[in-house]
Amino acid sequence: MSERLDKAGVNPGPAGRSFNDARWRTVNLPHDWVPELPFDQHAATDHGFKPVGPGFPANSIAWYRRTFSLAAEDKGRRLMLEFDGVYRDARIYVNGYFLGHHESGYMGFRYDITDLARFGSDNTISVRVDASQFEGWFYEGAGIYRHVWLTKTSPLRVAPDGTFVYSQFPKNIPEGAATIHVETSLQNDQDANQSAAVECEILDPAGKTAAHFQQSISVDAWSTKTLTQLAPIESPALWSPETPNLYKLITKVLVDSKEVDRTETEFGIRTLEFDANRGFLLNGKFCEIKGTCNHQDHAGVGSALPDRLQYFRVSRLKDMGDNGIRTSHNPPTPELMEACDHLGMLVMDENRLLGSDAQNLDYLAAQIRRDRNHPSVVIWSLFNEEDTQTSPTARNIAATMQRVVHELDPTRLCTAAGNVGNVYQGVNSVLDVRGWNYHPEAVDGYHRDHPNQPEIGTEQASALSTRGIYANDKTRGYMSAYDTNAPPWATTSEHWWKIFAARPWLSGGFVWTGFDYRGEPTPYAWPCINSHFGVMDTCGFAKDNFYYYQAWWSDRVVLHLLPHWNWAGKEGQDIDVRCYSNCQEVELLLNGQSLGRQTITNNSHLKWNVKYTPGTLLAKGYKNGQVVAEDKVETIGDAASVKLTPDRATIDANGEDLSIITVAVTDAAGRIVPLAENHVQFTLEGPGKIIGVGNGDPSCHEPDVYVPIQPSHSLALRDWRYKHGPRSEAMREITETFDIGDWASVDTSRETGPLSPDTAAVFRATFDATPAMLNATGVNLNFGMIDDEGWVYVNGHKVGESHHWEEQPSFAVGKYLHDGVNTIAVSVQNHEGSGGVNKGVSLEILDAPAPTAWKRSVFNGLAQIIVQAGKEPGALALTASSDGLKTATVNITAAAAIPRPFAP
Ligand code: GAL
Repeated sequence: MSERLDKAGVNPGPAGRSFNDARWRTVNLPHDWVPELPFDQHAATDHGFKPVGPGFPANSIAWYRRTFSLAAEDKGRRLMLEFDGVYRDARIYVNGYFLGHHESGYMGFRYDITDLARFGSDNTISVRVDASQFEGWFYEGAGIYRHVWLTKTSPLRVAPDGTFVYSQFPKNIPEGAATIHVETSLQNDQDANQSAAVECEILDPAGKTAAHFQQSISVDAWSTKTLTQLAPIESPALWSPETPNLYKLITKVLVDSKEVDRTETEFGIRTLEFDANRGFLLNGKFCEIKGTCNHQDHAGVGSALPDRLQYFRVSRLKDMGDNGIRTSHNPPTPELMEACDHLGMLVMDENRLLGSDAQNLDYLAAQIRRDRNHPSVVIWSLFNEEDTQTSPTARNIAATMQRVVHELDPTRLCTAAGNVGNVYQGVNSVLDVRGWNYHPEAVDGYHRDHPNQPEIGTEQASALSTRGIYANDKTRGYMSAYDTNAPPWATTSEHWWKIFAARPWLSGGFVWTGFDYRGEPTPYAWPCINSHFGVMDTCGFAKDNFYYYQAWWSDRVVLHLLPHWNWAGKEGQDIDVRCYSNCQEVELLLNGQSLGRQTITNNSHLKWNVKYTPGTLLAKGYKNGQVVAEDKVETIGDAASVKLTPDRATIDANGEDLSIITVAVTDAAGRIVPLAENHVQFTLEGPGKIIGVGNGDPSCHEPDVYVPIQPSHSLALRDWRYKHGPRSEAMREITETFDIGDWASVDTSRETGPLSPDTAAVFRATFDATPAMLNATGVNLNFGMIDDEGWVYVNGHKVGESHHWEEQPSFAVGKYLHDGVNTIAVSVQNHEGSGGVNKGVSLEILDAPAPTAWKRSVFNGLAQIIVQAGKEPGALALTASSDGLKTATVNITAAAAIPRPFAP
């Protein structure tokens, strides 16, 4: 498409209003198109071998369009179009007008579209997404992978991100009353100054009013003004990972006592402190950060996660005793922050790039404004592992960034993920809190040399393991799960945690990573396509390390035995058996015979060499001489059945909710077969759809998504006639029944037409509607060229316009067709050269898409399938079948729910 730079609002092609997108696929947001691409050995290793980005222009640019209607009553309101995140380099158009260009794939952006809106009519948003460049060195996806919102407000309203609410206690210890600070920015987008009142009500976690206050304000025309209000809350319910108590601030803007705007902001009351000797203090008490770093993507869906998946992932992390997430290496999706607020997770909120240039500071400021109300955010991270971090320039930039953060948020400190040892020069000399990526050997020296600077483990471990694999396998690209592997710059899980657990002043730290992610298949490359750093795989299935952390991070009793006990061919040989447990002692028994009891040291594991005999290996965990836990591994029989287990069997029929279903291959006794790799096929009945499949295998090249194929066939439209005459909307020559008498015939398949400069004519053709056309899901009328402008009619109904000879216009005409003879009329205006209807005209008939066949192999017994509810309530039935195995069906109820408002 060539963009019009000479005139506004007349962009041709998909940016234009009249463009026919009928043959485009319908997708729901959030959407990442990279999972739809095949794997390609020549594509970037670090991005997961998908043919997108540098070197793959054909797969890297896409257009999205959305048509919505605005009521006539909306006139007078301000309209804001808000994108939470597009990967990347987005150009946005509304009704053919260019609105803006936004490069960052990680920060959201918004435009006021009031001037361009067509009230009481259809409106079109067009988005060109260009993922030809990378911003990171990990899988990034491509597309509108976060939500898009249309916000309608009165001209006087709370500005976007215009609420800042935080709490303070005297001495930063949660005793007595908290003072709630509420800053409200009011924006007045109209010609008149406006007086108003800002009324605030704070609801406590139980929904009762905890504070209520109001203040008058006057805002000048076309300007913004900020108001600060303070209110005490006595003995507040504090927010913490264990008690994620949330308050709600309701802000009302009143004009002449009438409410003209209202916003709701959740917040939490808690205190934060990073101390050079005592480490991290939450609500005045030491709180060790037991965290994980995570990228954005999940099995099946790439980086486009429906909201429910954020909750699923945070819950999985909490299960392992994790209390913190670092949003490496970019500002997160807003719904991840909501999940962290609600479920209780401490967040290190990370900016993408070191930079004090205007654009980077804008992104940083937008991130702080967007996220500063979230109680989960406890610290900001300015960057990750910048090559220049020890230079004076990087120090200057970091100091500027930190100053900007402090101006916008007086309640939190900054760190950065620095991968240097005992080095103070550069950024470390200015950061509030020194961040440690790796280098645990250097922490004592640094602490000795800089005893007054707080510290935090921004990124540790990078241990390598594959779920259910117990020997490194270069050919298949697997790493043993015994917690013995780490790249040269990294350590095993046990190594870093022992060091950090013994040094509270380090504040704890974040493991690289909670979940495996696409890309960075360290240490191997192809055929391996995703990382092995996760404590869980890409689906969220636990690897053995999960239980190491659970034992030392959670307060539940943990006893976990590894490996599996299916070692046919290794009878009589030593098997390395290990146990993660927080009991005091563990006894191991093979087929009833005790192999002895061992005492556990904190933050360690136990180990036995056991001569393999099939049967049962049983572990008994003791505390104070009593058995408090048991775990066993058994020799499992042959694969016999498929088993489906949903995380939730009742979901909301709101068009967004998910059931995340574990697919297992089991033996006749219902036990998971540890080495199973069976192919499983899925069918879903009922009001919902499958949106993705995965299995956590880092070398699996099977698709994560199956895209429905739109079958179509085309018919050429020949036998055209035309007649010269000035054009007007009222001309009779475009009506269905007009008698064309002796009009001249014209060959519309040629490169040029019969019209001389500055002349107009009507071109007409007829065709018989076939039953296939009348029953089709859609019919497009496609033109090779209308030179220069055209107004197109089917059976007298106007179906659209075309205003540029290069446009190749297409119109959806299915609804205008009827039995028998149908008529097409095109009123053409030629400006220069020889014009007309050229390069062929055809009807494209869109047939019903065939049902999509979803499938996936299990990896070491497990796979995952994600089912999304539609907006209709009803019963969903997912069936999984596999050759030679017993089929499984699981029923899921999509219960009536109110979908959130959608632009019509
Ligand atoms: C770190 C880096 C991460 C990831 C990790 C792998 O140095 O910050 O993004 O690449 O190494 O170990």
